[in-house]
Amino acid sequence: MNNLKEKVEEAVKFLQDKTNDYQPQFGIILGTGLGGLVDDLEIAHTISYEDIPHFPVSTVEFHSGKLIFGTLSGKKVVVMQGRFHYYEGYSMQEVTFPVRVLKLLGIEKLFVSNAAGGINNGFELSDLMVLDDHINLCYENPLTGPNVNEWGDRFPDMFEPYSQKLIEQAFKINEEKGLDLRKGVYVSVPGPNLETKAEYKFLGIIGADAVGMSTVPEVIVANQMKLPVFAVSVITDLCYPGKLKPVNIDEIIAAAKAAEPKLRTLIGAMIGAQ
Ligand code: HPA
Repeated sequence: MNNLKEKVEEAVKFLQDKTNDYQPQFGIILGTGLGGLVDDLEIAHTISYEDIPHFPVSTVEFHSGKLIFGTLSGKKVVVMQGRFHYYEGYSMQEVTFPVRVLKLLGIEKLFVSNAAGGINNGFELSDLMVLDDHINLCYENPLTGPNVNEWGDRFPDMFEPYSQKLIEQAFKINEEKGLDLRKGVYVSVPGPNLETKAEYKFLGIIGADAVGMSTVPEVIVANQMKLPVFAVSVITDLCYPGKLKPVNIDEIIAAAKAAEPKLRTLIGAMIGAQ
């Protein structure tokens, strides 16, 4: 994408005009099968991705592709209902374009959810795993290319990709609400195929607890822009010996749906606590 800076700024200006300068404090990205959190919002503005200048258009039919401005737990938020995946054919710069737009709209923290395969053999279907760290196995990096220095460093530090403060808050909420939260390392793969038995084994050996096809590019860009991140995976299939079996996408979406009440409780309480 040429002239990335101009394109992001144009999208930001469009959204500010469209929403009468609605100033969200927090951004939320909803993953596969997790769009129901939107029902907890008091909606002020809904804008389809296809109407936003330079926004990629979501192609997977279960991602409805809308940017929603409103309040959640009394705080102003902007929610991405549906995200862009590398496997859909977008470049990593396109996948992460909305994160830059959200940051320049003024969000102070980013909350991310995704569906992931469980590699840690202590995990069960529909568990929530808070991301404590990640391993990037995607071969294209969203920061490749000319760096916009006013947005962030050429070589951004990744010592704490997920805010420890937000993780602590999540586990406090976990104690109060009994969400049975897990914590672990997420590994990102390009997809779209799921992994072979040997690949799942390899991912466990290198230190991953869950595997998915999103999130890490967005988190890299957020970190470059000094945006604190909280991310959570919903475990939608089990990928360790004894539990691994052929999966289909309907089962993955059903497992995500089953976890939705817990996810809504967690994100709602997290936003309320900021
Ligand atoms: N592998 C990769 N991505 C995924 C998986 C998986 O097993 N489950 C959900 N997203």
